Amino acid sequence: MKQRVLTTRAALPGGGIARLESHAEVVAWPGTSKPEPRDLAELAKGASAILALGNDRVDAALLDAAGPTLQLVALASMGYDAVDREAAAERGVVVTHTPGVLAETTADLTVSLILMARRRLGAARDSLAAGQWGLFRMDDYLGLDVHGATLGLIGYGQIGRAVARRSQGFGMRVLHHDPYAPDDALSTSVDLPTLLAEADVVSLHVPLTPQTRHLIGAAKLAAMKPTATLVSTSRGGVVDEDALLRALRDGVIHSAGLDVFEREPMGRELSPLVAEPHAVTLPHIGSATEATRAAMVDLAVDNIQDVLAGGPARTPIPG
Ligand code: DGY
Repeated sequence: MKQRVLTTRAALPGGGIARLESHAEVVAWPGTSKPEPRDLAELAKGASAILALGNDRVDAALLDAAGPTLQLVALASMGYDAVDREAAAERGVVVTHTPGVLAETTADLTVSLILMARRRLGAARDSLAAGQWGLFRMDDYLGLDVHGATLGLIGYGQIGRAVARRSQGFGMRVLHHDPYAPDDALSTSVDLPTLLAEADVVSLHVPLTPQTRHLIGAAKLAAMKPTATLVSTSRGGVVDEDALLRALRDGVIHSAGLDVFEREPMGRELSPLVAEPHAVTLPHIGSATEATRAAMVDLAVDNIQDVLAGGPARTPIPG
């Protein structure tokens, strides 16, 4: 009998799912809104593997709903903060993720956000589209330079380093704060107060953990330059969004570029940051290119195939 694999979305780019279907029974959540835990629990019964996305909650209840057949949860995402790792370990369920394949694409988007926020590209585009481009003025649409600025990377893993490489083309000086990463040819390791005081752009590349939740709050924002830009493509929970909104409104910092939010997806209940003129906001699209999303699904499927065939996982989450 074919093993059952649950995927939490029906539409997954690339050929990975077809590969899986050749030897497993694949059932997918068919909905167009985020599945409720009870929907997934129902579909998970008797599954050997679950292919989930980064913001799908994988907790003890879902693992128990799948039952003793469940061998692994394969995330098509780098981040694994929505998984109850202890519950998985207690049940002997392997959890895998997709490091490596999305770093370059996410770094591209990080650079886009830096440019959008500092050059106020969203506001300028909206003003043009609204028919407000009347006179060519010397004092309209003024932003801040990116070339020659100091970039401060909080977290210097695969994505942080890919952003550092891109910043060389802009002649940026690069600092990073990461207890696991010493100086290298691109960037100087500094303590957090130094980074916050010296960076023109502070870009977040740390995972969401109990230690990094609200890492950037009122005090850290106040320690940044009034001309600084905060950029995040990691997880919304790393920033205290109320504090950030106040900081942008009060001119404590210049701008923010955000791809991630504490509450995702937002639907019609928009975060006030979306309407904030000094913020540019995107719907968590850091890895959203055809090739990269296909590669993420492919790697998740590789993990499923390997584990269900009795082998080790290719990319288990760090222990
Ligand atoms: C990731 O891979 O963690 C991205 O944020 C998509 O979930």
